[in-house]
Amino acid sequence: MKTDVAIIGGGPAGMLLSQILDLNGISSIVLERQTKEYVLGRIRAGVLEQGTVEMMSKAGIGDRIEKEGFIHESIGIGFDDAVHSIDVVGLTNGSVVTVYGQTELTKDLYQIREETKGVVLTGVEDVQLYQLTTDEPYVTCRHAGENLRIDCDFIAGCDGFHGPSRQAIPVSHLNEYHLSYPYGWLGVLSETPPVCDEVVYSNHERGFALCSMRNKELSRYYIQVPSGDRVSDWSDDDFWKEFKQRVPNVIASTIVTGPSIEKSIAPLRAFVADNLNYGRLFLAGDAGHIVPPTGAKGLNLAVSDVYYLSEAFKSFYKQGSEKDLSNYSSTALRRIWKTVRFSLMCTKMLHLSPQSTPFEKEVQKAEIRYLLSSKAAMTTLAENYVGLPY
Ligand code: APR
Ligand code: PHB
Repeated sequence: MKTDVAIIGGGPAGMLLSQILDLNGISSIVLERQTKEYVLGRIRAGVLEQGTVEMMSKAGIGDRIEKEGFIHESIGIGFDDAVHSIDVVGLTNGSVVTVYGQTELTKDLYQIREETKGVVLTGVEDVQLYQLTTDEPYVTCRHAGENLRIDCDFIAGCDGFHGPSRQAIPVSHLNEYHLSYPYGWLGVLSETPPVCDEVVYSNHERGFALCSMRNKELSRYYIQVPSGDRVSDWSDDDFWKEFKQRVPNVIASTIVTGPSIEKSIAPLRAFVADNLNYGRLFLAGDAGHIVPPTGAKGLNLAVSDVYYLSEAFKSFYKQGSEKDLSNYSSTALRRIWKTVRFSLMCTKMLHLSPQSTPFEKEVQKAEIRYLLSSKAAMTTLAENYVGLPY
């Protein structure tokens, strides 16, 4: 098989890249290890930056986001038994975020690739990358019992943190930066009306809690739990009891609770590969970086990577220029590190760290009080939350 760009990974990054390339006359083949049903069954955050919404609209899947997404003009900070609303739209002269589940966004991407006859192979096994430092790279894999070889001009590694693409970069060409937190997020999806019409991040001495939603009848709530906790350690009743202790009473006294239809624990960690390009291989999305979910940036960073990489491929195929491809890694990493900074700042400010000294706990309270009392501090948070410019 021959294609312009072989894309490893059929998550948001791989599928969006495939669609954008297709719209620009650049062919691709997506190789996804899981079944489509498995990929579409993943429950992930869905707070879309304006740049992400614009990219989805460019990809031709903006309609449902516009129809079903929730425009949020503010975010709430729960602190000292009150919800403090930060006027995101006012502080950023009109920028907003859109709440629209990543699951729905991935469904839309699969649907449009099917409608546009995109080549997306699912259930692919044993993907291997070859000849990355030549201008004739290729990928081999097994699909439907057949051994395949895909000859291409470029390989896009959109295969997430555990995929083979980053592993194909020699250690001499790659530094990895890792940070892990001694806690994670226990998340619950419940068929109940959201308690707030904004996302509320609650700091409490018992630990962090978050109120979010998917639609008018589907709510998403989280509490910080120690690393090592298992979902089986937490009954629904235990979850709701702890959650209500960590949020302001105005939420605890009005929330509609219900049985969890999904319950999972996500570890909090951060990771950055300091090189997203090796020869004809380019990494995008979780293959190159992971951020803690506090800033809701994982999906949005994958999208900005795809923006830079698709622009670089367009420049190569339309003008024959390799300049943007050569600059892709450094360009994408500048925005990645700024977004990592923001996500880590939010995580430190809002979570209870078991290692915090009493002194550090007082500083954390002062940090939040300063944020809530300073237009400059709230503006900084707001402009990062809606997304830094590409
Ligand atoms: N062969 C083929 N596909 C693979 C392989 C492999 N060896 N290894 C991983 N994959 C696939 C995974 O099954 C997954 O569907 O690569 C895809 C990577 O998708 P994501 O992990 O969703 O990463 P990405 O597309 O970069 O999107 C980032 O997804 O994980 C969330 O929090 C993250 O919101 C962020 C977004
Ligand atoms: C979510 O809705 O799942 C969500 C919202 C905001 C975050 C993280 C997750 O920061």
